[in-house]
Amino acid sequence: MSGSAGGAVALAGGNALVTGASSGIGAAAARALDGRGVRVALVGRDTAALAAIAADLSEPVVIEADLAAPGEAADTVVQAVAALGRLDIVVSNAGAGWAGPYQAMSPAELDGIIDINLRAGAHLVHAALPHLLAKGRGHIVMVGSIAGLLPVAGEAAYSASKAGLAALGEALRGELRGSGVKVSVVNPGVVDTNFFQRRNRPYDRDRPRPIPASQVADAIVDCLERGRPETVVPAWLALPVRLRGAVPNLYRLLSDRFA
Ligand SMILES: NC(=O)c1ccc[n+]([C@@H]2O[C@H](COP(=O)([O-])OP(=O)(O)OC[C@H]3O[C@@H](n4cnc5c(N)ncnc54)[C@H](OP(=O)(O)O)[C@@H]3O)[C@@H](O)[C@H]2O)c1
Repeated sequence: MSGSAGGAVALAGGNALVTGASSGIGAAAARALDGRGVRVALVGRDTAALAAIAADLSEPVVIEADLAAPGEAADTVVQAVAALGRLDIVVSNAGAGWAGPYQAMSPAELDGIIDINLRAGAHLVHAALPHLLAKGRGHIVMVGSIAGLLPVAGEAAYSASKAGLAALGEALRGELRGSGVKVSVVNPGVVDTNFFQRRNRPYDRDRPRPIPASQVADAIVDCLERGRPETVVPAWLALPVRLRGAVPNLYRLLSDRFA
């Protein structure tokens, strides 16, 4: 993260911490960053999966952590800084889903969704910020969801957790203005990963068609290189987001009609 070419920040030579790097979007982001000359600390719980991803990268660091456990997100940052020497990029991506009627969730399931999707990311960013601010530069990318911008009936807790991340990102962007530290939120639609197999209910719709994780990884890299504050992948999903922002009652009418 040193120079600049054609308006894009050059990422080569930087160090990144990527959570949820053992699978799906995080693994694709780790590969994409490695391909740009970034040294990556891979974070996850599945050590075998982490080792398999790490085998394809140059000089990776592997950190095993259950980020939903109290103190683990902050401890992960400490471990990453110790291993990498310094931190330039944080990709807060670890997450999980839950689908069904809100009242059917057990209190433990509700806590689990908020803990990994919102609390872990919030603590990770909280712990990483002093390291980035001390250098006067750095970039945090949070992986939200289209469900955080267009809340989904049947995914209330998940939508709320991702809306929380979107709000955190927006507020921090204002707080950090002029500090040299940037914040981006990448909001994917439906992505072809293990996400749906791992949640309590698989994806059973024909549309929207799942996009590859590499497309989200490209959007993460694009945010880092171009300093984009927020993005939606695939791009067409920005249309309903704009509609909801501009005419919420019309959006509600249409989503009730076509949901
Ligand atoms: N797939 C989609 O359609 C979609 C759409 C919008 C947003 N997203 C978001 O994208 C992010 C990545 O999801 P994905 O699609 O790549 O799903 P995935 O393939 O299931 O990957 C989820 C990742 O999160 C990690 N993780 C989950 N709980 C964890 C915990 N307690 N501690 C540490 N790591 C944990 C997993 O690590 P371990 O397996 O090692 O525990 C795994 O690496 C999530 O935040 C998800 O909400 C996904």
